[in-house]
Amino acid sequence: MSFPTSSANSFSRYSSFYSMIAAIGGFLFGYDTAVISGAIGFIQDRFVLDAGMVGWTVSSLVVGATFGAAFSGILSDRFGRKRMLILAALLFVIGSAGSAIPGSVAALVTARIFGGLGVGMASTLSPLYIAEIAPARNRGRLVSIYQLAVVTGIFVTFFINAFIAGLGDAAWDVAYAWRWMFGFGIAPGVLYLVLLARIPETPRWLMKQNREVEALEVLERMNGKEAAKTELEEILNLKVEDAGSIRELFHPSLRLPLIVGVVLAILQQITGINAIMYYAPEIFKQTGAGSNAALVQTVLVGIVNFAFTLAALWLIDRVGRRMLLLAGSLAMTVCLFVVGYGFHEGGVSGLLILFFILLYVASFAVSFGPVVWVMISEIFPTRIRGRATAVASFFLWAADYAVSQTFPMLIEGIGTAATFWLFAAISLAAVLFCAGVVPETKGKSLEQIERQWGGKSRI
Ligand code: BGC
Repeated sequence: MSFPTSSANSFSRYSSFYSMIAAIGGFLFGYDTAVISGAIGFIQDRFVLDAGMVGWTVSSLVVGATFGAAFSGILSDRFGRKRMLILAALLFVIGSAGSAIPGSVAALVTARIFGGLGVGMASTLSPLYIAEIAPARNRGRLVSIYQLAVVTGIFVTFFINAFIAGLGDAAWDVAYAWRWMFGFGIAPGVLYLVLLARIPETPRWLMKQNREVEALEVLERMNGKEAAKTELEEILNLKVEDAGSIRELFHPSLRLPLIVGVVLAILQQITGINAIMYYAPEIFKQTGAGSNAALVQTVLVGIVNFAFTLAALWLIDRVGRRMLLLAGSLAMTVCLFVVGYGFHEGGVSGLLILFFILLYVASFAVSFGPVVWVMISEIFPTRIRGRATAVASFFLWAADYAVSQTFPMLIEGIGTAATFWLFAAISLAAVLFCAGVVPETKGKSLEQIERQWGGKSRI
């Protein structure tokens, strides 16, 4: 196995190191989803697209991601987490290169669907990989590194887009700028491929394949010799010979974790985050900002998103998942309500709306952003984790598609104020769901979490 040898105290370093490599998938996810915001205007001019085709060009990646997420579970349960991460990295590279060179919009959409498959696979498998190698005490923080990578990808893309668009005149932008924006994604894709070759397979997957010796080797490296033995025993105790089948997903004992995972995944999206992430400049223009000011404000969104994800990293294993979700969704509800009110009243200053949008992004970044990815990677039993995580991730992407497709239609149909109030109402429902149903998983080993579900409604 191709990982470096360690001293007794270096296990944390190794799990952090491997987590960071796996988390680059998050960076590519952020990059690939956000890059289109800067490119779409030029693409529209280049290929003379109507509104429907603009929507399809944007959302084709999300459609690819929905399928990538759906199949990642079965594939990774069968072929391993590491191999499927490598496939995702390859798809990233193909998607980026294919989006940079096309002569037709059909070719561009096809490339985006391929890239999207990689995004969806990585979005499921990066956090899953990290959860399966991380020691319980800092699993939340390590999986959150993945979310930090997502927001870094989004943030970096905002800058790269602005930088590239500034390199030439309007004609150059329409002909080439968008190609460079996509093309830049090749570099992190290739880096990801190279680094993935250095990470081990996860001990939990190895155990499922009856490869105990290798599993122990990896566990020792992550957790030290003593803890490794205990953990191996724990995994062994819960090991079920037959890998979880799709039918097993509907077994009564899985009902509650599945409801929690799927509903959290859907709520993460339908509380409106990507209405902001994908359409921020348009929203800011509605408050009276000019084009340039709208772009600067969008960069602020990126900065706040990043900063508060960092805060989440610090908080998640301290105050726990449940508290963050509760406080975050409550704050999101209030912010969305005020933003809706701002649009409703008309005369309210754009700065006030900007402030509450930033506060909303901050509340999301410290709660639903990272916590949902952490929880869907840790609440399912090992034998079914790959598939169950994929199911939750599939619903997350499908909900993302629903929001990004319908947001402009909602604005036109019921108005901006009502649209934000709708998100506010959904956020309120999220508060109630978290208060009533979501358990705390902080500090527990995956096996403890698995045991504690056992037939009960609460951990
Ligand atoms: C969500 C993405 C979103 C991002 C924003 C992630 O947790 O899954 O859909 O764009 O957060 O930071």
